[in-house]
Amino acid sequence: MQSNTSFRVLGIETSCDETGLAVFDSRYGLLAHALHSQVQLHADYGGVVPELASRDHIRKLLPLLREVLSAAGLGRSDLDGVAYTAGPGLVGALLAGAAAGRALAWALDVPALAVHHMEGHLLAPLLEADRPEFPFLCLLVSGGHTQLIDVAGIGRYGILGESLDDAAGEAFDKVAKMLGLGYPGGPAVAALAERGMPGRFRFPRPMTDRPGLDFSFSGLKTHVLQVLAAHPDNADVRADVAAEFQAAVVETLLVKCRRALRETGLQRLVVSGGVSANRAMRSALRVLSEEEGVRVYFPRLEFCTDNGAMIAYAGCQRLLAGQAEPLRIAAYPRWPLDTLAPL
Ligand code: KG4
Ligand code: ZN
Repeated sequence: MQSNTSFRVLGIETSCDETGLAVFDSRYGLLAHALHSQVQLHADYGGVVPELASRDHIRKLLPLLREVLSAAGLGRSDLDGVAYTAGPGLVGALLAGAAAGRALAWALDVPALAVHHMEGHLLAPLLEADRPEFPFLCLLVSGGHTQLIDVAGIGRYGILGESLDDAAGEAFDKVAKMLGLGYPGGPAVAALAERGMPGRFRFPRPMTDRPGLDFSFSGLKTHVLQVLAAHPDNADVRADVAAEFQAAVVETLLVKCRRALRETGLQRLVVSGGVSANRAMRSALRVLSEEEGVRVYFPRLEFCTDNGAMIAYAGCQRLLAGQAEPLRIAAYPRWPLDTLAPL
């Protein structure tokens, strides 16, 4: 990053329902990014339809590439490397980005890198001017993952705890369906929760009363169903259920973060992944960081959820360190984060 020469990396994200492209410059930082969300495409189905997602990525990849290069004032030949999300994610969606990214790198004769989607999320706060130094504790909360990670450096990840069943974002999405809010669920539940009263119904804070740093969110669904079945279906009940559900998730994450900070002695807390966009969670974790005397870092809101910038950033760091992929199209629907090579 401190080098005087620029190394420009195109990042491509297509692991789920957003097509994200970006160019990160090792000297000047993020030059441009563009995102196409497939929300409209999947809304009628109440969730992501994998085949439709893959086809839409294919449709959008090249127009977004042109858009992002033009916004950065670059031509294709100015790119020094291509990084694409290789997993975890939907295999067809991953293959769309991987094939495009790998082919482009081959055509331009530049190195390509297969990026781990969750490493992208984990490093997203490093795109900001006020960025965390290593080591830090990371709370990674997305639609597919809830993990507490001891981050010693890029690729040096110790998983301290994780969800044994549903991820936090998945729980938001399922509860959204129960409340008739449809897809995408997290932001809709959060908006409804703002109008409700937490505490009218009392939900558990799962696994907080026993030692350890693992999570379990699937039981909260049952509580939501039970409360909804036992009360008349009206706007107040739904808002109060949303508020208490959100409060239960936030407090559970907070208890485990506090425990992990105390156990590790780490002085910085990084929170990333789609659920880190949640306002109630952001403010609760800010209070926690003040109480514990640590600093907390979040990505900017648009980089909490899936985006190309985080992939360009992670890819740039690894490519600069000489880690390039052989000539193959890599797609790993399942890919444990703690198997990545350290930098
Ligand atoms: O990181 P992300 O974009 O995709 C995955 O890697 O999974 O995260 C998407 C998840 C979804 O489950 C979505 O409902 C949740 O993040 N989410 C939120 C909010 N915004 C997105 N959950 C709660 N509150 C939000 N404001
Ligand atoms: Zn994601």
